[in-house]
Amino acid sequence: MNMLSTLMIGSLAVPLLALSAAVPPSSNSILDARRIPLTHTPHAKRVGPDGTVRGWAPREKAKTESKYATRLAPNSATKRDGMATLQDYYIDAAYSASVSIGTPAQEFYLLLDTGSADLFIVGSSCDSSCSGLTTWDPTSSSTYTNESTAFEITYGSGDASGYLVSDTVSLAGISETSQTLAVVTEISSGLLSSPLSGIMGMGFEALSSSNSVPWWQAESSTWTSKVFAFELARYRNIATATDFETQGGYIDLGALNASHYSGDVNYITCSAQTYWEIPVSGLSVEGTSIDISISSTSSSSSKSSSSSSTPQAAIDTGTTMISVTTTVAAAVYAAISGSSAMTESGYEGYYEYPCSSSVNISLTFGDITYTIDPDDFNIGALDSQGTSCLGGIYGSDLDSTVDWIIGDTFLKNVYSVYSYSGTTTGSQVGFASLADGSTVSTGSASTTNSSTSSSSSNSSSSSTSGASSLIRSKTCIAGLLIIVLTAGTIILI
Ligand SMILES: *[C@@H]1O[C@H](CO)[C@@H](O)[C@H](O)[C@H]1NC(C)=O
Ligand SMILES: *[C@@H]1O[C@H](CO)[C@@H](O)[C@H](O)[C@H]1NC(C)=O
Ligand SMILES: *[C@@H]1O[C@H](CO)[C@@H](O)[C@H](O)[C@H]1NC(C)=O
Ligand SMILES: *[C@@H]1O[C@H](CO)[C@@H](O)[C@H](O)[C@H]1NC(C)=O
Ligand SMILES: *[C@@H]1O[C@H](CO)[C@@H](O)[C@H](O)[C@H]1NC(C)=O
Repeated sequence: MNMLSTLMIGSLAVPLLALSAAVPPSSNSILDARRIPLTHTPHAKRVGPDGTVRGWAPREKAKTESKYATRLAPNSATKRDGMATLQDYYIDAAYSASVSIGTPAQEFYLLLDTGSADLFIVGSSCDSSCSGLTTWDPTSSSTYTNESTAFEITYGSGDASGYLVSDTVSLAGISETSQTLAVVTEISSGLLSSPLSGIMGMGFEALSSSNSVPWWQAESSTWTSKVFAFELARYRNIATATDFETQGGYIDLGALNASHYSGDVNYITCSAQTYWEIPVSGLSVEGTSIDISISSTSSSSSKSSSSSSTPQAAIDTGTTMISVTTTVAAAVYAAISGSSAMTESGYEGYYEYPCSSSVNISLTFGDITYTIDPDDFNIGALDSQGTSCLGGIYGSDLDSTVDWIIGDTFLKNVYSVYSYSGTTTGSQVGFASLADGSTVSTGSASTTNSSTSSSSSNSSSSSTSGASSLIRSKTCIAGLLIIVLTAGTIILI
């Protein structure tokens, strides 16, 4: 899910104060203290329920005490690392995990999204627009607190609205007892498909529209290392794959799992800590290197550098495909024979190419090159004959600090690691070879073996499900998300 954090209208100070005032004057446990962000604290948040620093100061002291207590007595600290199995939707279009909410805990499938930073779930008071979705009733939980702050979310042509609460949220057995989350009470039909019930954002707090600490960032202080990592399964090349597969890979939390990768992790330092944003060093198609530099002629004022520069990419588990600038997309498909730009309305920026082609595309980060499996580049057939297929890279000139969005089409090919520095700079994204057959190329031959699976993806069943998944994933995954807080702050996502 790409979050283009463009502040549209409204006074920033008013909604922030409104949010602060909504925080209940709860007892100052260590968990409360942990909710004080470790990163930059907006001035407006240093205000307690009565509008002074009275509510804030004790929590700040508790935070400092707990921080140093952990450092001074490491043996007494209970480390809580974990691992969860993922689910795979619409043939690798999205990945979720089972997340439990409330007391007693109820389990829901939430999309895990490194490209956004808010957590939301559809609520039981949602109108008929949520029919078919598994919803949560906050009043069935003995531990929820209503933060009484309105919240609105829009994907593309649709939207959803609700309010913020806080409650216990657990993933992989790791619990946060006062996690802010949005309970959605109205949603455009088709925005989420069953069995998904919401989204768990895994970007940085600075990207959060609800101005709350994302679950992973709060929990990271209890982990062996402030790190999480994804191994995403590939069903693209399995003809019998269904729209919902329960073995969709793994997320590791707090430590890397040596069973999920091999060799070294290639770490790239983040250029910003909103998205997991890193520079891309290279892109090649069929062995031909593409010029990816961002030219100074860009009309966007946010990219005002006077010379060409390296594209900045958001590493985004919540996006299905790979978004590059329109210039780069044109160059990519110029190197793929038989390809053409799609002309149908709604498909601007997308390209089709012959399904019979096995296209070799690779991306370079730092000085390591990673090859995308040709099956991953093939998003699915656009016709029932399986002649023309949608390419996994599309062109879009984003009005954002990021130039590219790198989604699951690439991320399935690596073990992707998200390493938090604990401060506002120095976090890193890392990539490593998957344990079971890598597509990483450091100059020598790739060890992947996709020729047999490529031909199997031309079965009629695969073509049909691929085409239908395309339509649904466009509304669910590739749409534009807009979050509107009360008092007129609109944030485009
Ligand atoms: C929480 O507060 C919002 C806004 O004040 C309200 O609309 C909603 O019904 C409340 N929810 C519950 C479960 O009390
Ligand atoms: C590491 O991954 C393997 C295979 O998925 C799993 O069996 C094992 O429990 C994991 N180890 C930890 C510490 O999570
Ligand atoms: C794909 O391209 C990469 C980079 O150009 C190259 O190293 C690799 O050998 C190619 N693989 C195949 C199967 O052609
Ligand atoms: C797809 O497979 C069918 C039969 O398996 C074959 O006749 C057809 O030529 C293949 N199409 C492509 C585009 O490879
Ligand atoms: C790769 O291809 C070789 C030869 O075609 C085959 O023996 C081997 O089993 C294949 N490996 C996988 C993982 O499919």
